[in-house]
Amino acid sequence: MEVNEQYKLLGRRVEDLRQKEDFYPTPRYVTQALLDNYEFSGKIWEPACGDGRMAEVLKEKYADVECSDLIDRGYGTASVDFLLSDKKAPNIITNPPFQLAYEFIVQGLKSAEKTLALLLPIRYLTGKKRAKLYAQFPPAKVIVIPNKVDFLGFGKPAMEFAWFIWEKGRKTGITQIVWAQVKSR
Ligand SMILES: C[S@@+](CC[C@H](N)C(=O)[O-])C[C@H]1O[C@@H](n2cnc3c(N)ncnc32)[C@H](O)[C@@H]1O
Repeated sequence: MEVNEQYKLLGRRVEDLRQKEDFYPTPRYVTQALLDNYEFSGKIWEPACGDGRMAEVLKEKYADVECSDLIDRGYGTASVDFLLSDKKAPNIITNPPFQLAYEFIVQGLKSAEKTLALLLPIRYLTGKKRAKLYAQFPPAKVIVIPNKVDFLGFGKPAMEFAWFIWEKGRKTGITQIVWAQVKSR
């Protein structure tokens, strides 16, 4: 029996069984929701690319997509720790490891020359520490994914997500919220 099945039998939520290094590949429709609701210009860096699930969708629309990950998953450049990198790129797009999501926001705001787009749990709208950060760096746009996202295909997703998009140099202003119209799951 698969370890995930054993876990279900124990009555625990599968989402509590953390994937190694937080590897949760993004379903196509979630990346598509970003592309349908925001236009990027210039080079894109996907700095936590995993097996390329998100990058492959980005490449269908944008020619210049560079990919790296801390772990070698057979896609992009391996052994690049985004949090320790001093590399910059016009646009940074990723679904970060959830346990390091706050650190990815802070690092992404330093590394993105134009736009930072991160897929984050929707509860990232709240929280005292995040409120302080967002007061200094308000997201330009939040794209709400209308259903809970089933990253691993186990059938019982628990968490809601949204794309949080920051535009460099935008210190004030109203954050636009849109609800993605999802065509398929
Ligand atoms: C939630 S998965 C997302 C994978 C891919 N972006 C996608 O959406 O399909 C997070 C990825 O972050 C990588 N990761 C974890 N810590 C990292 C770090 N410090 N720097 C770069 N990548 C990291 C993991 O190896 C994993 O592949």
